[in-house]
Amino acid sequence: MRFLIINGPNINFLGIREPEIYGGRTYLDLIDYIRAGCAELGVDCEFFQSNHEGAIVDASQGAYKRIDGIIINPAAYTHTSIAILDALKAVGIPAVEVHLSDVDSREDFRQVSYAGKACCKRFAGMGFDGYIAAAKHLKQLLG
Ligand code: DQA
Repeated sequence: MRFLIINGPNINFLGIREPEIYGGRTYLDLIDYIRAGCAELGVDCEFFQSNHEGAIVDASQGAYKRIDGIIINPAAYTHTSIAILDALKAVGIPAVEVHLSDVDSREDFRQVSYAGKACCKRFAGMGFDGYIAAAKHLKQLLG
């Protein structure tokens, strides 16, 4: 079983950006954390991060017939991108939406999630653990 973990814009700036919201750990810390969690679950994982919407569309398409599950934090594109929503729908791979922060209790403009409409589950406000919860969910789903 192989999962693709996609992170959107500014996630590469974890540890620098708004630490009071996103914490002090870095994107490399996040990758290490997810890799360890996936190893414990016995699933393979690969990572993709981009600040560019089209690159995330390309990465989603690249998963077609190759990847069993997608874990995606589209970051700000969550709230704007129909292209990412369409890409997730196009590949038809089970996908789970993750947010480090509790988006539901933040600004109004964060209350819409386009990508989430193509996801079977969402974990928000759990920090790094949201990605592990997503991996567990997908593993159980794909069983
Ligand atoms: C985020 C929440 C988004 O609203 C924001 O634009 C991000 C990160 C999160 O992980 O909490 O960049 O997806």
